[in-house]
Amino acid sequence: MNKDEISIIILAAGKGSRMKSPKAKVLHNISGKPMLYHIIKASQELSNDITVVIAHQKEAVVEQMQNYFDNINFCIQDSDNFPGTGGAMKNVSPKNEKVLVLNGDMPLITADALQGFIDTKADIIMSIFDLENPDGYGRVIIENSQVQKIVEQKDASKAQLQVSTVNAGIYAFSKSVIEKYIPLLSNDNAQKEYYLTDVISMAKEDGLNISPLLVDENSFKGVNSKKDLSDSEIIMQDKIKTAWMNAGVIMQLPSTIYIEESVTFEGECIVENGCRITGNTLITNSNIKAGSVIEDSIVKNSDVGPLAHLRPASYIEDTHIGNFVEVKKSSLKGVKAGHLSYIGDSQVDEGTNIGAGVITCNYDGKNKYKTIIGKNVFLGSDSQLVAPVTIEDDVMIAAGTTVTSGKVEKGSLAISRTKLRFIKDFYYKFFSN
Ligand code: UD1
Ligand code: CA
Repeated sequence: MNKDEISIIILAAGKGSRMKSPKAKVLHNISGKPMLYHIIKASQELSNDITVVIAHQKEAVVEQMQNYFDNINFCIQDSDNFPGTGGAMKNVSPKNEKVLVLNGDMPLITADALQGFIDTKADIIMSIFDLENPDGYGRVIIENSQVQKIVEQKDASKAQLQVSTVNAGIYAFSKSVIEKYIPLLSNDNAQKEYYLTDVISMAKEDGLNISPLLVDENSFKGVNSKKDLSDSEIIMQDKIKTAWMNAGVIMQLPSTIYIEESVTFEGECIVENGCRITGNTLITNSNIKAGSVIEDSIVKNSDVGPLAHLRPASYIEDTHIGNFVEVKKSSLKGVKAGHLSYIGDSQVDEGTNIGAGVITCNYDGKNKYKTIIGKNVFLGSDSQLVAPVTIEDDVMIAAGTTVTSGKVEKGSLAISRTKLRFIKDFYYKFFSN
């Protein structure tokens, strides 16, 4: 089947009260992107007709998704009168005969994992898995190897709660099944909601063919609580890191490393334990040492850390960044910055050495200013460069100097120090009784 033959409906209108958050559940992040982003991205590989059902915080959901996607339909659920996953289906109008319905709280889903719903032939295909702890999921009641119905946890009897086969929350329906059964749903249950899952028992009574598809929790896990969010994050991180290790990245203690899905590596890279790498970061042939944080930056042929922080828009090439160095919106090419520095809104050229404790003073309390540092500059320890300032090539800045001149000319030494004094026996006088 091609993308023009399949419609996908994603249910994202719920309150998500178990999340205990002011933020809509589907907007909580997994590996740097909202849960709903991951589901739409997977869906786009399979369909050109994607509808997201919204209600709770609908403006925020639409606004965030429009940052990433431009060809998504949004459909508003009348959640006051028709709450629940069945209520969410009331106003949808899919274009195609084959319709996949996905819960919006399943961030681990992939296009590959959904392929079975497209290949299987049945009136209804539903996803099931067996769990040691089925808590929170709808239980799937199977008799004589036939699915009879789905019972929600809150409606389940004691015996039904023991059932470990659960509804994973993804279905393939034909459009006609949706058109026939959604209007017939009632809210006669513990939560007074219209359950999409009740379509199964109605269809079963009418003799329709219902095919359960056994799926893997690693792709189909639902997120209801913050604990589920972190469990899913661990699974997603494991997938991301495994893929990069298979592509040639060396990772020491990968379970301690966090890498967002938007990060890219090239060539031979090493990422040591405890690193956090986020945003649109590209790392090429570099060693990222323990405990470093890199955000939205480019690092080429360099070593960074341990315990360094590259903030957004840093460009680091052929450079050594040592411990406790923070770089922000700066480009460093062929530079050494070994210890304890802040380099912000700066451009630093080849052969330059940034001594311990050098600080670019880029902010005067109102505005930010640039620091330009040329080639082969020696910046002595504990010097401050008050921006805007240009340090031309071949300059020496003496240790402890505060540069306020706006410019230091090529070849010169800048030195600002108070005269060193000695007061003989001061120590003994000061501490004598
Ligand atoms: C649902 C299933 C349950 C299944 C589980 C799998 C129902 C009634 N139950 O339960 O059998 O085991 O998923 O994860 O379907 N939503 C709306 N509008 C609403 C309510 C929910 O769009 O009025 C959306 C939510 O935003 C969410 C999805 O539907 O993305 C699922 O809702 P949720 O409340 O999480 O359902 P579960 O209780 O997990
Ligand atoms: Ca859920």
